[in-house]
Amino acid sequence: MDNKFIDRIDELDWKVLQELSKGKKTVFEFGTFIGGSAMAMLPQIKEAGGHLWCIDHFRDNVSQPPELHIHPYEVVARLLVRVESYHDTITVIVGDVTEALNFPKGMADLVFIDAAHSYSMVKRDIGIALHLCKQGGTICGHDYVQHYEDCDQNLMEKYADTESGYFRGVTYGVIRAVNEVFGKPQNEGAIWWVNTESSHY
Ligand SMILES: C[S@@+](CC[C@H](N)C(=O)[O-])C[C@H]1O[C@@H](n2cnc3c(N)ncnc32)[C@H](O)[C@@H]1O
Repeated sequence: MDNKFIDRIDELDWKVLQELSKGKKTVFEFGTFIGGSAMAMLPQIKEAGGHLWCIDHFRDNVSQPPELHIHPYEVVARLLVRVESYHDTITVIVGDVTEALNFPKGMADLVFIDAAHSYSMVKRDIGIALHLCKQGGTICGHDYVQHYEDCDQNLMEKYADTESGYFRGVTYGVIRAVNEVFGKPQNEGAIWWVNTESSHY
């Protein structure tokens, strides 16, 4: 397979998403790419008689140099082929994550965040997830590689709000945004999650 088109989640992340999506009926995903995380969640969502809404503009790689450039249609085509057997369980929305604001407040059981990774964008996407997610639902996301208190604060300051939010293996943008809204989340592999039981967010 062309190595531009590889899943961004690994085996452990896949297992964590399988667990988090068990019994969930109304699920949103921000950032789908070719569908790794979607495929991890879809069997459980289908089993529960639920539905997955995936939102992605598929434009992350359009400004990259030729060797990394990917046309949105190439990503969408791979995604649609891959999820074909779940076609009645998934809706793919091509657009910005803000499209989620067109859905009613509190409708989701689970929201998975894996779109842009700068601090500002993850903070924005968490706000949108809080709009969608019901009390007692779960908000989770990818690229959480260590807790906030274990991060070098100078590097956090320098890199969290760059475009990638990333420096030398540490995803400062994600870690800072999650910490600011939720404090210390639950975490396994690179997945973080919180239950929205408490109403103080
Ligand atoms: C890291 S990839 C998602 C990987 C995927 N979850 C997986 O398991 O392989 C991030 C995706 O988010 C999308 N994205 C980034 N910013 C976005 C935004 N503001 N709105 C919608 N999609 C966005 C990109 O097009 C890209 O496909």
